[in-house]
Amino acid sequence: MTISAKRAPVRVGVVGLGRLGKRHATNLAYRVPGAALLAVCSPLDDELAWARDALPEPRLYAEYDAMLADGDIDAIWLVTPSSLHAEQIVAALAAGKHVFCEKPLSLDVAQCEHVLAFAREHPELQATIGFMRRFDPSYRDAYEKVMAGKIGRPFMIRSQTTDKNDPEGFFVRFAPNSGGIFLDCTVHDIDIARWFFGHARATRAYAAGTVALHEGLRECGDVDNGVGVVEFEGGRLAVFYASRTMAHGNDTHSEIIGTAGALSVGHNPRASRVEIYDESGVRNECTPTFFDRFEEAFLHEAQAFAASIGARGERGASGSESAGATLADALEATRIGLALREALETGTPVVL
Ligand code: NAI
Repeated sequence: MTISAKRAPVRVGVVGLGRLGKRHATNLAYRVPGAALLAVCSPLDDELAWARDALPEPRLYAEYDAMLADGDIDAIWLVTPSSLHAEQIVAALAAGKHVFCEKPLSLDVAQCEHVLAFAREHPELQATIGFMRRFDPSYRDAYEKVMAGKIGRPFMIRSQTTDKNDPEGFFVRFAPNSGGIFLDCTVHDIDIARWFFGHARATRAYAAGTVALHEGLRECGDVDNGVGVVEFEGGRLAVFYASRTMAHGNDTHSEIIGTAGALSVGHNPRASRVEIYDESGVRNECTPTFFDRFEEAFLHEAQAFAASIGARGERGASGSESAGATLADALEATRIGLALREALETGTPVVL
């Protein structure tokens, strides 16, 4: 990616320094030439202490509103609980800041629509949702092959997001604010399906699920393994699987099946190209977490966002897809994720 040496870097404030926020902040501080990490915000002292040690002297904020009032910040980078995203995006836009926000846009369709309506009033500001899989080199290669017609007309996608089992029960504590397994995990597969299907409209959702290990999830109506089927217009189909209980690691992969061929992305979730030959046979180690699998994608996503804001200054607002998933994409992903959740809860298909 070429970034004009003359462009001033985009000055970013990262909000939320948890599991993923620390990763984004580190990327923005050290690995994104078009960005400068100016500030971080967290309500937790230990997270601010981490920032003081690990990052190059960012301004530290305990209050989101105080960060929004900082006139030196160009863009807000939200890595906060999903239940807060919608109101925090609106507040950032109202303060005149560009926004990057982690997925999902919201756990509620009306809230998504409110964000879209508000953003339409601020076309000069970029607002992007972090569906980083679009920036993974293998997914992007597959996408370009599909767009070039290499597999004919794509009509079927099988895609899964499955995490390594965490016996400590992180997911159980995380569940009340995550929206459940379909909005938290499958939302990525939904976005990929819509991307490969040229943003086709979803028409019906079916779902089933089970609690295989984490009984605590029942309290908030969640499951640790879920399966969804979504029909899209034009006779297209997607089959999704999400799990919190894999023994071997984070195993995220997708197949795109077309009328003249098929593509598979990440079918072997190998951590590296090393193969181990021992008494168990021949094997690869698996990527342990989503971050190990998608480290490059998170970095490319941040670089694309910074480049897109820099380019806006030169060519005016555009809402270009090269910056990542738009608010409209994210609204559809939430709509479909919620339909899957309803189908799971009611045991009946949901018409969209
Ligand atoms: P986490 O629980 O580890 O971190 C949440 C952070 O938000 C913490 O630093 C907490 O102090 C902060 N926070 C809470 N309330 C706040 C407030 N009112 N103002 C400012 N900060 C506040 O959660 P995690 O795993 O880092 O997830 C954060 C977001 O990232 C979620 O929306 C999640 O869906 C998304 N995510 C996306 C992934 C992807 O694959 N793209 C993977 C993991 C998470």
